Amino acid sequence: APAGPRQRFDAMISGEERIEPRDWMPDDYRATLIRQIAQHAHSEIIGMQPEGNWITRAPSLKRKAVLIAKVQDEAGHGLYLYSAAETLGVDRAELLDLLHEGRQRYSSIFNYPTPTWADVGAIGWLVDGAAITNQVPLCRCSYGPYARAMVRICKEESFHQRQGFEILHVLARGTPRQRAMAQDAVDRWYWPSLMMFGPPDSESAHSGKSMAWRIKRYSNDDLRQRFVDIIAEQVRALGLTLPDPDLAWNAERGHYDFGAVDWAEFTAVLKGDGPCNRQRIEHRRAAHADGAWVREAARAHAAKQADRAAA
Ligand code: ACO
Repeated sequence: APAGPRQRFDAMISGEERIEPRDWMPDDYRATLIRQIAQHAHSEIIGMQPEGNWITRAPSLKRKAVLIAKVQDEAGHGLYLYSAAETLGVDRAELLDLLHEGRQRYSSIFNYPTPTWADVGAIGWLVDGAAITNQVPLCRCSYGPYARAMVRICKEESFHQRQGFEILHVLARGTPRQRAMAQDAVDRWYWPSLMMFGPPDSESAHSGKSMAWRIKRYSNDDLRQRFVDIIAEQVRALGLTLPDPDLAWNAERGHYDFGAVDWAEFTAVLKGDGPCNRQRIEHRRAAHADGAWVREAARAHAAKQADRAAA
């Protein structure tokens, strides 16, 4: 007898074939992808805010040009990801409504403020560094459109990470005040960057299924460990330190040991009580409302084109 759609789907997953939009897929596979891809897209566009804050005050013309390009890349990532989500049968307008109503999430990391220029460096180095660690395995995600979007995004993220590292490298070798500013930014961003990988495996509601479906390839804790191992080495090249007295190489494990993440803080940020949650969502809603005329104009133009084609 010919295999049913469920068997074909399972065989494709175990055979490392990509699932494409027109293939049959279980409802909960589709729902998980929509949740994750939408959350990811929302993170990219909300993530423009903390750094956008420094565009008008970047310390040189060159720094300003680089930062504008970087923030623009994040907008582009959001667009690829909304497109990837739309292949699953949802509309981006709906997803934006869910974000604006607080019914879909975006990454906890973008709820922290950027009071100094060094924050732009720390975001590039730590936040984009964590994003790459999490996203490189997503290039092998079982859902084709998401995996392909990730390839380009990861290339751009690695440029972002280098520009962040370079900003901190220059500051760390500058005046004592610049050096202190770099260290302060690293102190504030380090722990929140570890929270980007999600709750501990024991608390991760979706990991079991997502790993079985090969959406996720590694667990939250495994990726967090991989990131700590990378950052603990790179911080030495910067000549700065990480704010964790328990950080120590463990030769037996072949990994760095590190201190406990403050999961109460993570929970509070997810609930909406981080330092900038309200500000981020208000700004996003206002930007959406301000852009209404652009959407209307695009619709009117499309209608005219369609009329002309029909005439
Ligand atoms: N910020 C906000 N919410 C989070 C975070 C975080 N850092 N980590 C986990 N969560 C949420 C999950 O969305 C889930 O919420 P829900 O059940 O209400 O939907 C809940 O916490 C439990 O977490 P998990 O079961 O571990 O969730 P999941 O399996 O989806 O793993 C992870 C979380 C690792 C973030 C995964 O979704 C992922 O890899 N996403 C793609 C990467 C991404 O979104 N990056 C955005 C930041 S990087 C950037 O934009 C530069």
